[in-house]
Amino acid sequence: MIFGAILAGGIGTRMGNVEKPKQYLVVGGKPIIIHTVETFTACEKLDKVIVLCPEDWIDYTQVLFEEYGVTSEQAAVISGGAMRNDTIMNAISYIDEQYGLEDDTILLTHDAVRPLVTKRIIEDNIIAVREKGACDTVVPATDTIVESLDGDRISHVPDRAHLYQGQTPQSFKAKEFRDLYLGLTDHEKEILTDAAKVFVIKGRNVALVKGETYNVKITYPSDLQLAESLLGENV
Ligand code: CTP
Repeated sequence: MIFGAILAGGIGTRMGNVEKPKQYLVVGGKPIIIHTVETFTACEKLDKVIVLCPEDWIDYTQVLFEEYGVTSEQAAVISGGAMRNDTIMNAISYIDEQYGLEDDTILLTHDAVRPLVTKRIIEDNIIAVREKGACDTVVPATDTIVESLDGDRISHVPDRAHLYQGQTPQSFKAKEFRDLYLGLTDHEKEILTDAAKVFVIKGRNVALVKGETYNVKITYPSDLQLAESLLGENV
């Protein structure tokens, strides 16, 4: 089976003092999370979408879904975890309990706050994870990236031709992620906030899937204006 996990377990501290977590703010006429969930539930290749939000926001999310016609058959709403990878682990436990976890159970994990994801990106993730085992959605880096180990002086300027910016979805076999994650030390769990990195540090191949520059993550207040104009254009 193929599952989509919409990661909405964060509270958006970098968004500043807003009345609700950023995934519930209205952009382009609808809450951000609704844009994201609608794109996922419209993809027939996914068997089920699981939405993971903060425990205190489960009821609110269910009411919102009812209002926008997202049914519980299309999208289950459950609690996220303390860290982003804990939220992914909650999705995997839910799949295990409800459907059973097979070796080839595929999970597409996507930030709720990337409402401009497309059907093409989702379908390319499914193809890549089937063929290559795991994949990450990326776009080529446009800025030169400089590395500084002490935050004071540049230690390295990597060749931009080999650099990409990571987006989501990040997709993999759910069972493999669980096994790798459970094998990490507490320190590794703390520093490995990126799901693709869990595979990379364990020597697994992670294929690249072409993202879109407009598949932005809403992090800061200025991103709301950007998303508003992009969603308004209906890209
Ligand atoms: N996320 C999650 N579970 C967590 C933390 C984050 O599902 N424990 C989700 C967020 O809800 C978001 C996505 O991961 O959709 C990307 O994370 P980020 O932009 O960092 O979101 P927040 O953690 O909410 O923001 P901040 O870091 O500013 O607090």
